[in-house]
Amino acid sequence: MNLRKCAIIGCGFVGATTAFALTQSGLFSELILIDQNRKKALGEAMDLSHSVPFGKPVEVVAGDYPDLADCALVIITAGAGQAPGETRLDLVHKNVTIFQSIIPQITRYNQECILLVVSNPVDILTYVTLKLSGFPAKRVIGSGTVLDTARLKFLLGAHFEVDPRNVHAFMIGEHGDTELPVYSSANVSGIDFDHFCESCQRRCDQEVLRTIYEEVKNSAYQVIENKGATYYAIALAVLRIVEALMRDEHSVLTVSVLPEGHYELNDLCIGLPAIVGQGGIEKVLDVPLDADERDRLQKSAAQMKKVIGEIRW
Ligand code: LAC
Repeated sequence: MNLRKCAIIGCGFVGATTAFALTQSGLFSELILIDQNRKKALGEAMDLSHSVPFGKPVEVVAGDYPDLADCALVIITAGAGQAPGETRLDLVHKNVTIFQSIIPQITRYNQECILLVVSNPVDILTYVTLKLSGFPAKRVIGSGTVLDTARLKFLLGAHFEVDPRNVHAFMIGEHGDTELPVYSSANVSGIDFDHFCESCQRRCDQEVLRTIYEEVKNSAYQVIENKGATYYAIALAVLRIVEALMRDEHSVLTVSVLPEGHYELNDLCIGLPAIVGQGGIEKVLDVPLDADERDRLQKSAAQMKKVIGEIRW
């Protein structure tokens, strides 16, 4: 296994932007780009290669499945994206079919890598990847609600007029319409919102928090309505997960994982805070939730189970 070698499957907006972020990162020496449209992969590899003299040394090549043999990490962004007005779940049948063709081609050449799923609906496709690959759950990870958590921090930071990196709050559940914020333990550098608001004189009641949550949930719809697709923020969310993996950071990230009884959930993948390091998922965390959050997480999980039940395997 070559820890300096990564592959991206799917060179659409998200795959290509992720490739750009990874070439800038210095984390890898070799980046393999695979797309069913080989010319697209070739064009992206050339364009990215031409940027190398301005950045970090990395070999970017258009490849094929046999090139995956020694890749430590395979990132999957292939599949249809949302059209304006479409939900992520509307993509399920199209993208499950695509994964049914991709996953066996990956596992034919590589049984040891970490699989990072980014395509939507990400929680369903992470579960499909887990089942089709037969890999241990710790090595099948979805981008989950890492991006939604960033959107929450961004909006809360803007509201509080504080660096979003000092806002500690999670989005969990489906990366989609049933996701939920964990406000019960949210804080700004250890100060809970009520106390923080007292000192800054800013309104921060339930209504403000609900509005911010709605905006997080609808962020992708708004971006897609305006420019057709989302890709910069998801690419950096993927980079953040990749950093945690490749640098063995033991970072807590709200990735899509298989819970094993955590929050009384089993046999699905969903966004939950987990410790991420070199081996993949090291531990799913049982963060305390209040009664309303527990109830909403169960509803989100029930929605995932319903969709999983409709998959034609
Ligand atoms: C978004 C896409 C990646 O939320 O689902 O931007």
